[in-house]
Amino acid sequence: MALSRSTKSGKSKRPVTKGAKSAPAPVRKLKIALVGFGTVGRSVAKILCEDARGPFLLTHICNRNVHKKKTSELPAHIKWTSNFDDVLASDVDVVVELIGGLEPAGKWVREALRAGKSVVTANKLLVSESGPELADLARKMGKHLEFGASVAGGIPAIIGIQEGLAGDHLYKIAGIVNGTCNFILTKMEKDGASFDAALKEAQQLGFAEADPSADVDGMDARSKLVILTQAGLRLRVRADQIPCRSIRLIESVDFTYARELDCTIRQISLAQRIESRESPKSKDSKDGARGNVHGGRLAAAVQPALIPSSSLMAHTQGSQNIVTATGEYAGRMIFSGYGAGGDPTAVAVVSDLYAIARSAGAPPEAMPGAAEVPSSVSGDFTVPHYLRFIVRDRPGIVAALAAILAKHEIGIDALLQKPGFVPSALPFVMTVEACDSGSLNRALAEIARLDFHVKAPLCLPIFLD
Ligand SMILES: NC(=O)c1ccc[n+]([C@@H]2O[C@H](COP(=O)([O-])OP(=O)(O)OC[C@H]3O[C@@H](n4cnc5c(N)ncnc54)[C@H](OP(=O)(O)O)[C@@H]3O)[C@@H](O)[C@H]2O)c1
Repeated sequence: MALSRSTKSGKSKRPVTKGAKSAPAPVRKLKIALVGFGTVGRSVAKILCEDARGPFLLTHICNRNVHKKKTSELPAHIKWTSNFDDVLASDVDVVVELIGGLEPAGKWVREALRAGKSVVTANKLLVSESGPELADLARKMGKHLEFGASVAGGIPAIIGIQEGLAGDHLYKIAGIVNGTCNFILTKMEKDGASFDAALKEAQQLGFAEADPSADVDGMDARSKLVILTQAGLRLRVRADQIPCRSIRLIESVDFTYARELDCTIRQISLAQRIESRESPKSKDSKDGARGNVHGGRLAAAVQPALIPSSSLMAHTQGSQNIVTATGEYAGRMIFSGYGAGGDPTAVAVVSDLYAIARSAGAPPEAMPGAAEVPSSVSGDFTVPHYLRFIVRDRPGIVAALAAILAKHEIGIDALLQKPGFVPSALPFVMTVEACDSGSLNRALAEIARLDFHVKAPLCLPIFLD
């Protein structure tokens, strides 16, 4: 993709007049088609058209029932269409996909790449489902696929990781990437609200959907963790390989006990490369289509967890997001802020367009390499854990729990019991030292069979760094 006008031989056509200062060659702008003229699409169109001196020219807007969308506020040269084939047949350089969902978005992105157009998308569903395959197709076609807006909206986490940290070898990505969960948990933390009351308020304020399952049960954050893992750790993982646990299990008493431990609770998405990235190249990776199957072990999960009250994650309030990326050379980098909404997300989309404009003509080797397939994926982290019990009080409960934990060689770190609760439903907490999840799960299965529980025990990891 050439930004400056040139002849076949690569030499400028600009005539040189002896003695006179020559004018700079006119720069050909990147032609853009916007597919999806909704919340984000409108903002992208506004930014592109307001910056008339920028390197982009918006030439097409495609949306179903486009007559309902057409506005005279945008330049008259823009071609409005409801037929995606018009975009494919045009000379646009970049297709910006902003319709969302898996189909027809996936079909259109593939067709655009095959037609020799680069693609920018904000579609987390599509990128988490088909990111590596689409990236392979883009690489094969010598085109770009950028998806910076698909995680954390306008916060430049993906572009920061892929471009700003391209020189590092990242081994850990962590974040709070679901604003709904963070709104609910910070509400419970500050006001002592129950989960149900905090969710209701989130729904009234428009921070949560009528059906909040995808947010509170972790699937939305999991899609984003899949994308962050691909972009940052260069590992291909499917959403169904990553365990996710709901924040519905958290009660206001958990914040009381977390505070005693100088901690708070957040929905944490964490992916960590466990083994060295050095690995022999797989035969399958020759064409990049299936990737390297020796990508080391990956630990990844989305779950509520205890984190230190003094940490930046704990200071991530309300609907804010935060992403941290840790590498072998530069250590930990942090991206945070309020990211969602039309304008912030559009900024990420336009920033992706700038990335394409800057790298126009770059060799394919400069594009992100094919991601490897990890040798195994698990949700196990060897960290201390918080165990909360709600029991019918009677003598011998602590001894029974301690005996089972000791049998599985799990060390107790602390025992906390706040006064003021009724003995018929007494909450108390044990913290246990770092142990492997297998031993802990076996111990918890035995503990769950004891007869004094009023509710099932809650087990949360404690992430101290
Ligand atoms: N909004 C945010 O804060 C945010 C943040 C990060 C990422 N994103 C991502 O950005 C993308 C767009 O989000 P949005 O909030 O702008 O969504 P939106 O407001 O619902 O806009 C989607 C637009 O695409 C059109 N569309 C949908 N399906 C279509 C189809 N099959 N054919 C033609 N047009 C179609 C819709 O037309 P109708 O009006 O006729 O339905 C609408 O104009 C999504 O992938 C979303 O996940 C959004």
